[in-house]
Amino acid sequence: MERVKIGVFDSGIGGIPVMVKLKKEFPFVDFIYFGDNGNVPYGSRESKEICELTLRGVNELINAGANAVVLACNTASLNWRGEITGVKVFRLIPHIPETFRGEVGYFLGTPSTVSALRASGAFSAFEHIRYFPLPYLAAAVEESVFSDKELVLADHLVTTEQKPAFVYLGCTHYLYYEGKIKRFFRCEKTFDGTDNLIKNIRENKEFSAREICCKPSVSFVGAYAEKNSLAFSQYMKKWS
Ligand code: DGL
Repeated sequence: MERVKIGVFDSGIGGIPVMVKLKKEFPFVDFIYFGDNGNVPYGSRESKEICELTLRGVNELINAGANAVVLACNTASLNWRGEITGVKVFRLIPHIPETFRGEVGYFLGTPSTVSALRASGAFSAFEHIRYFPLPYLAAAVEESVFSDKELVLADHLVTTEQKPAFVYLGCTHYLYYEGKIKRFFRCEKTFDGTDNLIKNIRENKEFSAREICCKPSVSFVGAYAEKNSLAFSQYMKKWS
C-alpha cells in the first residue's frame, strides 16, 4: 500500500502551525513542507499571480513525492483554480460554526482573502462580522519569528470599544500570535479553519484508508527548506 505523504504549502512559514495540528491528528502520515518565502506576502497580489505561484509550489511538493497536498494558506486556498490529476488538493476554507451567527466577530485576513471572501458571500448570514484586511501583518510575523524584533499588533490593528465574541484568524501566519491577538481584543474565542480542514481530510475515504505508515517523517523542500525547518523547530519549542 502506498504511504500517505501530505505536502503542505504556504507562502512562507504560516503553514507550519497548520502542519503541527495535522501531525497531531494524523500521527502516522509523512509530511513534506514547502514555503514560498521568497515571494511572501501573497496577500496583496492579483488572484492570477497567487494561483500561478501556488501551482508552482504544489508541483514542487508533488515532485518531492507528495500524494496529497494541503494549501495551508487562506490566500492561496481562496484563489486556487487548479485541478491536478491523481493528487487531492485540500484547501483551507474559512468556516464559522452556525451557533455564532448572531454574534459580533472580527475577521482578520490578507486583503486578497478578505475581498475573495466578501465577494463569495460565504459569511453573508453572519451579519455582525467586521472585516480587517491587513496588508503587512503576515510579513511582520515572518520577520518577528526570525529576529528579536517584537511584533507590535497596534501597528496593524485598531483597538475597539466593543469586545467581539470571536476573532477569526483568516491568515495562517496569525496562528503564531493567537494568544497575543486574543489579549489585544480581550476575546476568548478564535477560529481559523483548521478544524474544518481536518474534518475534510478525515471524510476523504480514499485518503483515510491509506493513513497508516510507520516511522513517519517531516521534511522540507524548496529554496527555503532550511529556513522553514528552523521555523518548525522554533514553533515546536516556543509556540506549541
Ligand atoms: N499565510 C497566508 C494566509 O493564510 C498568507 C500570507 C501572505 O502571503 O500574505 O493567507
